[in-house]
Amino acid sequence: MKINSFTENPQFYGRRRGRKLSKSGQLAIKYGEHYFIKKGEISSIFNYQKNIVLEIGFGDGENLINSAKLNSNFFYIGADPFLNTTAKCLGKILEYKLKNIFIWPDDIRKILNFFPDNSVSEIKILFPDPWPKKKHRNRRLIQNEFIKTIYPIIKHQGTVTIATDHDLLKKWVLEKFQNFKEFEWLVKNSNDWRLRPKDCFQTKYELKSINQNRKPSWFIFKKK
Ligand SMILES: C[S@@+](CC[C@H](N)C(=O)[O-])C[C@H]1O[C@@H](n2cnc3c(N)ncnc32)[C@H](O)[C@@H]1O
Repeated sequence: MKINSFTENPQFYGRRRGRKLSKSGQLAIKYGEHYFIKKGEISSIFNYQKNIVLEIGFGDGENLINSAKLNSNFFYIGADPFLNTTAKCLGKILEYKLKNIFIWPDDIRKILNFFPDNSVSEIKILFPDPWPKKKHRNRRLIQNEFIKTIYPIIKHQGTVTIATDHDLLKKWVLEKFQNFKEFEWLVKNSNDWRLRPKDCFQTKYELKSINQNRKPSWFIFKKK
């Protein structure tokens, strides 16, 4: 395991719980517990799975579930500390009896050190919390330290896809990744950031954004 102060004890500012779980949510947590991955098991997945996609902040799980349903030759690890949406997502994993998925029900930063180098094919971060106030900018997930930490675990030519509808965060994400020269922004024309990539599914936050007349952008960065 690599030692990195950024991942030792990260401060998490988002919500971990909402309303009391519904009966179906409680059942999903009870029967879906075996989908929760433990830190010590992470590196062993790479012995038998070659194409691993990590989705950070899967929310209700629309993208995670649809991707896992359609791509049985890929293996998915989804991370989200919010219990209520995790229960919802687990419910769907159980319903579809998915076999190519694990869930980390906590802050992703706590497990990044457990991924072997050059192990993850793709990272997806769809509509991360923007934390729009300047005084909260350190709460944003995408930070220099975060990029430095994910860089070694991504395979050569692997990608990071980030979606956001927040103008300030768009600028922030582009600046952070473009300052990090080991990633290349995959862009040829404006459609490359205006249109959802074909391998991503519409999520609750994308729909909310469109209904409120905001414009989601999609940025894909490739590890050189
Ligand atoms: C605005 S929601 C977007 C959810 C979903 N991706 C969508 O597009 O509908 C952001 C999600 O990121 C999760 N999140 C925030 N910080 C995180 C972290 N450090 N690790 C994993 N998930 C995180 C939150 O709990 C929340 O579910």
